Amino acid sequence: MTEQAAPLVPPVPLVQLTGIGKSYGTIRALHGVDLAVNAGEVSCVLGDNGAGKSTLIKIVTGLHRHTEGEFRIDGEPVRPSSPREPLARGIAAVYQDLATVTLMPVWRNFWLGSELTRGRGPFKRLDIDRMKRTADEALRAMGIALDDLSQPVGSLSGGQRQSVAIARAVHFGARVLILDEPTAALGVKQSGVVLKYIAAARERGLGVVFITHNPHHAYMVGDHFTVLRLGTVELSAPRAEVTLEELTLHMAGGAELAALKHELARVTGVDTGQLPEASERSTSTERK
Ligand SMILES: Nc1ncnc2c1ncn2[C@@H]1O[C@H](COP(=O)(O)OP(=O)(O)OP(=O)(O)O)[C@@H](O)[C@H]1O
Ligand SMILES: [Mg+2]
Repeated sequence: MTEQAAPLVPPVPLVQLTGIGKSYGTIRALHGVDLAVNAGEVSCVLGDNGAGKSTLIKIVTGLHRHTEGEFRIDGEPVRPSSPREPLARGIAAVYQDLATVTLMPVWRNFWLGSELTRGRGPFKRLDIDRMKRTADEALRAMGIALDDLSQPVGSLSGGQRQSVAIARAVHFGARVLILDEPTAALGVKQSGVVLKYIAAARERGLGVVFITHNPHHAYMVGDHFTVLRLGTVELSAPRAEVTLEELTLHMAGGAELAALKHELARVTGVDTGQLPEASERSTSTERK
C-alpha cells in the first residue's frame, strides 16, 4: 500500500465541552455535560422542553458563559464574553426564528450585513451584480436551486429559508454549524429538504450540531447522539451503538412513560397500548 498510515492520535475536535455546567442564579440549567463536534460529522442534541439544549448552544455561540467545566475551540480553552470570538473562529448558528427580512430579495438577505460594494468614497455603491451572482453560485454549490433570487424571502417556504441560511453560513466560512430545532415548525417534505442540506454541510467538512426534539430526524443524519434530560446527559452514543428505537425511548423518557402508563391505564379514553412497558427500557440495548 502506498497510502500513509492513519494518524494514531485522533483529530482535535473543532469544539469540545467537558463537564460543562450553567446556573442562572439558583436554577441549574446544565450540569456535567460533555460534547464533541468533529469536522465532517453531525452531532445531534436531543431532549425535551427545558432539557437545556438552547442553553448548551448559547454557551458554544458565546451568548452565555458556562459556570462549570471546560469549553475548547480547536483544543484551546476559551471563555468567550460575547459571540464575537466564536463567530471569528467559524462557529455559526442558525436559529429557528431566522433573522431574515421577509420583504427583501433572497440575494440581499444572503449578503445582509456583509454587502459587497464597488467604487470608493462618494462613488461607493452596492455591487448588486456580483452579490446576485455569488449568492446564486453559493446556493447552487449546496444544491439549492431557486428560480429567482429577486423574489422576497417571505415567499420562500420555511425549509427553503433554512436552506438559504445554511448555505449562507457555509459561504461565509463556518466550520461549525449549529442548528437549533431547524425542523420543528416544518412538515415532512420541508424537513426532508433541511435534512438534505445538513448532510450537504457535513459533506463539505463542517462539524454540525443539530438540535431537535425529533429522534427520527436526528437518526436520518446523525453520527453521534446526545440526549439531555433535566440539564444532564441521559445518553451519549455514536450511531453504531444506538438504534432508532433506543433513541426514541430515551427521548420519550422510557422509564417515566412506563410509570405513567399505569396511571393512564385507569383513565378511560386514553389508549396506552403504544406506551413502553417498565421492563422494556432495560432490554432496549438488544439489537434488532
Ligand atoms: N435566561 C435564563 N434565565 C433563567 N433560567 C433560564 C434561562 N434560560 C433558560 N433557563 C432555564 O434553563 C432550563 C433549560 O432551558 P433551555 O432553554 O436551555 O431548554 P431547551 O432544552 O432549549 O428547551 P426547549 O425545547 O423548550 O427549547 C430551563 O429550566 C429554563 O427555564
Ligand atoms: Mg430551546
